[in-house]
Amino acid sequence: MNINFWKNKKVLITGHTGFKGSWLTLILNSFGAKIYGFALDPISKPNFFDGSNLKQYLIKDIRANIQNSTYLYRTINKIKPDIIFHMAAQSSVLVSYKDPEDTIKTNIIGTVNILEALKKCNSVKAAVIVTTDKVYLNLEKKKKFKEIDHLGGYDIYSGSKASCEVLTHSYLNSFFQKSNCKIATVRSGNCIGGGDWTKDRIVKDCAESFIFNKNITIRSPKASRPWQHVIEPIFGYLKLTEKLFFSKKFVGSWNFGPNVKNNIKVIDVAKFGKRFLKSNSKIKISKQKYYESQHLSLDSSKAKKYLKWKTNLKPEEALKLSFEWYKFYYNNRGNNKIINFTFKQIDNYKKKFFKFK
Ligand SMILES: NC(=O)c1ccc[n+]([C@@H]2O[C@H](COP(=O)([O-])OP(=O)(O)OC[C@H]3O[C@@H](n4cnc5c(N)ncnc54)[C@H](O)[C@@H]3O)[C@@H](O)[C@H]2O)c1
Repeated sequence: MNINFWKNKKVLITGHTGFKGSWLTLILNSFGAKIYGFALDPISKPNFFDGSNLKQYLIKDIRANIQNSTYLYRTINKIKPDIIFHMAAQSSVLVSYKDPEDTIKTNIIGTVNILEALKKCNSVKAAVIVTTDKVYLNLEKKKKFKEIDHLGGYDIYSGSKASCEVLTHSYLNSFFQKSNCKIATVRSGNCIGGGDWTKDRIVKDCAESFIFNKNITIRSPKASRPWQHVIEPIFGYLKLTEKLFFSKKFVGSWNFGPNVKNNIKVIDVAKFGKRFLKSNSKIKISKQKYYESQHLSLDSSKAKKYLKWKTNLKPEEALKLSFEWYKFYYNNRGNNKIINFTFKQIDNYKKKFFKFK
């Protein structure tokens, strides 16, 4: 990676108050970028963003709805960012069953609003639209999905994200052939890591139950997921952006999933957490209410070949970093030590796995 690339670059993150947005803010800060955020308030209490006062790392912390196209465009035009990471989304499959309309408006219309703003704003040289591994048509055949595979979307969340993929590519063909703005879509696996308080997230639920010795009920125990620490795809997004900024060759869609070896069953994640946190809690199983895919994995050989990106952490290391984070957070509530702890996790990862020019 080229450390100088990011210095003083104006970067707008939509969804900066969320789990991935918070980590991206800290990582970009460590590279010296000028960061602007556009999002609603954090959706949970507690949350990483407010709890760690991440506002201090932003030039501007804008709280607004991405569905408001006029305000979004005005904001982008005023900031004139060099780079945009579009992460704002209704990010939960379960919530999408309960509130399909808001999921569709936020995810699809929100993305269209970003694409429309990109059409008009000349400053942006690279834009990364964050979707998900759930965009693929998953027939449960234990297939490793490549970027060229059919898109699908069993549930509204997945369908909304697949729509973002299709629309981004329609916009690219229709409006960006001669533009200086290069756009890519990125699909990661199930991200884990500290600071995610979204409802029904297995690692957070396990951490809280085991730390406080409460029993936990999990659903889909045998579902196997491509778990990856949130740092890993984020470094992939950054590597891609450095290339995308200068070259149209990198326009298109990119998988940033973990190795298939990182696929672990939900029940094994819970058992690992219980062991690691030395808890007496019981793990109970509940009936699954909604459909969730049983097996999902990505083929990330394109990122490996063209970006020299790969998953570095073993699944146990990714889980350990995540459980350690929550343990540290709950042992140090009320002071701000978690922020230094998080920077330390980022620095250790950088030192261990990256060479910087
Ligand atoms: N967490 C994962 O495992 C994972 C995996 C694959 C893809 N993704 C994608 O990555 C992105 C970030 O995910 P996350 O886990 O950080 O989600 P999150 O729910 O923690 O954060 C979502 C962010 O979007 C903002 N937001 C939601 N609705 C908005 C609206 N109408 N207007 C403006 N802002 C709005 C929230 O305020 C928040 O900042 C999402 O696009 C998600 O679909 C997440």
